[in-house]
Amino acid sequence: MVTKTKQTIEACTEDIFCGVNMVEDPKQATDLEKKHLPIITAPKKVKKGECFEVTVEVGKLLKHPNEPGHFIQFIELYAGDTYLARMDFTAKTTCPVMKACVSLDHAHGKLRTFERCNLHGTWENDVDIEVIE
Ligand SMILES: [Fe+2]
Repeated sequence: MVTKTKQTIEACTEDIFCGVNMVEDPKQATDLEKKHLPIITAPKKVKKGECFEVTVEVGKLLKHPNEPGHFIQFIELYAGDTYLARMDFTAKTTCPVMKACVSLDHAHGKLRTFERCNLHGTWENDVDIEVIE
């Protein structure tokens, strides 16, 4: 049997590259936070085993630069701690938007997403999702 462990990490608040950055209150987010917070669009309730679409967009609240020196490198999507999908991006030619078709056979917890900016580190966001019969 595989054992799952969770680490407790003390991230330094001054170092944007240490740990994962989160936004406490999106309504009071700074411009830096608005540019980096990945926004998940997904149904609140889904039927067990049925496909549904999830969209994750970086820069939806405030446009993030997309140039060789400053761009979003990737977006990842998880259901709880379960990995679902990843998309890598290229500066200028691809926009930091990921669409995934997902099917969950049971509740895993929140839909979680991570994005990585080459200049501003890794950012996380999540939304609730319910899996019904
Ligand atoms: Fe950035």
